[in-house]
Formats: sequence, C-alpha cells, structure tokens
Amino acid sequence: MRKKFIAGNWKMNLNTADAVTLATGLKNALGTADIDVAICPTMVQLTSVINVVNGSPIGVGAQNVYFENNGAFTGETSIAMLKDIACDYVIIGHSERRHVLGECNETINKKIKAALAGDVKPIFCIGELLEEREAAQTDAVLKTQITKGLKDISAEDMANITIAYEPVWAIGTGKVASPEQAQAAHAFTRETIKALYNDTVAANVRIQYGGSVKPDNAATLLSQPDVDGALVGGASLKVEDFMGIINNA
Ligand code: 13P
Repeated sequence: MRKKFIAGNWKMNLNTADAVTLATGLKNALGTADIDVAICPTMVQLTSVINVVNGSPIGVGAQNVYFENNGAFTGETSIAMLKDIACDYVIIGHSERRHVLGECNETINKKIKAALAGDVKPIFCIGELLEEREAAQTDAVLKTQITKGLKDISAEDMANITIAYEPVWAIGTGKVASPEQAQAAHAFTRETIKALYNDTVAANVRIQYGGSVKPDNAATLLSQPDVDGALVGGASLKVEDFMGIINNA
C-alpha cells in the first residue's frame, strides 16, 4: 500500500509573517492521520517555516535547487545548503520552471541526481501542455520527461523520489483534470517506470496529481487507484482549504 502524500507548493507567495502563520495553523490543525504532508515555501522563508513545524509530522520542501554544491553561481542555492537547514524535500522540474524559466530535461536530471546524492527527497514534476494534449501527445511527452529526467538513476534511489503529474493546462486555471484523465496519465507513468525499472519500483513509487486541486475535487481524484497524493498550489495557501484536501485523502 502506498501512503498518500499531500504537498503544498506555495510558489512565490506570502511574506515571512504570513508563511509562519500558515505553517502554525497547519501544524495545529493536522491530526494524526496516516498520511505524509509537506509544505514548500520560498527559499527566503524555508528556515522560518522549518522552525515552526520542527517536531511535527509536517515535512518542508524547497521549490527549486541548483545541481552544483557551491561556487560562482549567483542567485542559486545548493542541495548541501538545503540539507544544512534540515529541508526534507525539493520540487524539481515544476512546469513553471520548465516553461517560464526555461529549464530542460537534462538540467532537471542533474538536479534530481544532486538531490539524491545530498539526501533531500525530490518531487519530480512532469506534465503536458494543452496543445500537446490536444495533439494526442500526452503519453509521448510524459515518456520523454520521465526517461530523460530519471536518466542513470538507480532502482534503489527511486524509493526516495515522488513523481508529480501536473498537466500544465490544469495549473492555476481552475480546469482540473477529470479523475479519468488523471488516472490514465498516472497509470501510463507507472507503466513507464515499470519498463525503465521493474514491477517493485513501479508498485512503490508515489505519483501525486497537481493542477487545480481543491477540497471539493480532492476525494474523487485521490480515490483513483494510481493517484497517491496531490501537489497543491493555490489551495495550499489557506489552512481550511489545505486541510480540506488532506481530510479528503
Ligand atoms: P494550482 O493548485 O494552483 O493549480 O497549482 C498546482 C501546482 O502547480 C502545484 O505545484
């Protein structure tokens, strides 16, 4: 049985006071449900949020990282730095990084390898654009992203990776994928992992769905057999909404 994993991607939102308030509210609201929960604030707020949730079951993730350990890379942050502040997860290859900030599969692969080597768990994002879905290219796009993103990553390391399927057309649009669309993409992703690795890796890897997840659509999405959790954007910025999703899982 794969344990459900709900992560909140706060994106470039909230000041530090609001981030601390939100993290505190979640810490107080979270019961003892048998579920993994993480929140991902900006780099600036990571330490403050980690200090708040320290000792609680809530994990904390960064939204990005650079693959080199240190050096002349102005503006970047390394895995060693994330590990140093006890950051648990890092989102890698989010669609906004791919499509707004120009990140390619090869860079994403280097970042995943750096995260695994530095003992910070990657949340590896994949997903097709609307035009790719309309041209019936969804499976091909996902296969390329998975194959290139996971190049030279061992079956053993796969135990520390979460995959997040986020159709780009569903992100921040209110147009959530139907449970059938999500299930189909998740099943295809799991099949692809099986072909690259083996049955056990495919059966164990957790695949989150992301894209306009809200409390009222979470239950049907999360009841699909291959949907193992959610990566939540907008609805992770309010305690009631994020808790509504967690409670529906
Ligand atoms: P929304 O939930 O706001 O659509 O964002 C999804 C997302 O990009 C999470 O990483």
